[in-house]
Amino acid sequence: MLFESFDLVSALATLAACLVSLTLLLAVSQQLWQLRWAATRDKSCKLPIPKGSMGFPLIGETFHWLLQVFSKIFSHEALESYLPKIQLVIQDTLRMWSSTPEPINVYYEAQKLTFRMAIRVLLGFCISDEELTRLFEVYQQFVENVFSLPVDLPFSGYRRGIRAREILQKGLEKAIREKLQNTQGKDYSDALDILIESGKEHGKELTMQELKDGTLELIFAAYATTASASTSLIMQLLKHPGVLEKLREELRSKGILHNGCICEGSLRLDTISSLHYLDCVIKEVLRLFTPISGGYRTVLQTFELDGFQIPKGWSVMYSIRDTHDTAPVFKDVDVFDPDRFGQDRTEDKDGRFHYLPFGGGVRTCLGKHLARLFLKALAIELASTSRFELATRTFPRITLVPVVHPVDGLKVKFFGLDSNQNEILTETEAMLGATV
Ligand code: HEM
Repeated sequence: MLFESFDLVSALATLAACLVSLTLLLAVSQQLWQLRWAATRDKSCKLPIPKGSMGFPLIGETFHWLLQVFSKIFSHEALESYLPKIQLVIQDTLRMWSSTPEPINVYYEAQKLTFRMAIRVLLGFCISDEELTRLFEVYQQFVENVFSLPVDLPFSGYRRGIRAREILQKGLEKAIREKLQNTQGKDYSDALDILIESGKEHGKELTMQELKDGTLELIFAAYATTASASTSLIMQLLKHPGVLEKLREELRSKGILHNGCICEGSLRLDTISSLHYLDCVIKEVLRLFTPISGGYRTVLQTFELDGFQIPKGWSVMYSIRDTHDTAPVFKDVDVFDPDRFGQDRTEDKDGRFHYLPFGGGVRTCLGKHLARLFLKALAIELASTSRFELATRTFPRITLVPVVHPVDGLKVKFFGLDSNQNEILTETEAMLGATV
């Protein structure tokens, strides 16, 4: 009896010791994390920027200087020059999806698509499809471990993340060197060109390490968010065929969709901006399925909110999702209803802080114009040149972490459309049809 109670006490003591160690480990990691966060988010912060300072342990060393050139990377002229390339990447991808006999996993493929867009359009890398796929696989391992605790132990997620980052940076270095040597035949300046030029303008030739870090950060910022929104867009178009048809009508009325094809040269930035219904659809996707749930800020000045005093120096989190769910301006918040943003209702116009899929204030998303443009170009291509069907009996559940996405990735079968809006048969299907 005495031995049994002794065993119980020692087991409890071991458990308590484990819990204390774990709590200490978490507290230290959290402090490390906060230090990184403070150093990048608060411009007045004098702390030296430690490695991985975007707030995530594995990324963000060059974030400060990157922010300064982002405005040029996403200027109106820059977006205009990216548009035809974005369109090509999307068209190519949809063709691939349509020629696959099996249903595709939309979320996985959308991640690949945004990765391809970042590599081919933003960074202008001419790398083979095989190399792109290899980099994409490594990139996924990197992203899976970005949120790991910054404790460098064998077999830890952090260590796996560091390995993946090293492999990625090797691949990026090779692509950057080839790009720097091969400048002929380019008809536009991509984000990497602008980055390099801006460095020179500021009398600072960027080192290879800075270029690699910068490119990785660009891909990181663009990747998961845009893939999440693209998947939600496809899911909502599937759920609401009426919305898809209304989109097609708008495209026809603006002369973009003619005889089932996108008229050549019709997609320009100003034409896309004139598509009001398309704008409402994208806004509604980002309201109901906002990819990022919130953000952090450091309190620079003590303030009061709803009777609570928030002291200077505290880290606070704002929730985009809760804001969208509770903002009184939105009627029937759970309903997918693009018309709420239409000219008759303009629900987003009442109040500045009810609708913030891209965050707000000085640290608002810098890529939001590119993200919107990409989503609109995708919706236009989907409405014009594709037919797609849900391949499962019911729609999947949605999970929120790390970004909003369907639990099974969303299984969809894609079919191409010919110029009469008829399904294009694959070669095998066409041959089978001929035999019958
Ligand atoms: C649908 C797609 C996207 C969504 C929903 C989105 C959302 C956001 C949000 C909410 C923030 C603010 C986080 C905070 O408050 O701290 C943010 C920051 C940022 N985003 Fe995006 N984003 C998207 C696409 C992109 C793209 C395509 C790029 C660039 C290629 C980009 C670049 C950035 C950068 C650089 C920041 C940091 C800005 C700063 O800290 O000053 N984003 N994004």
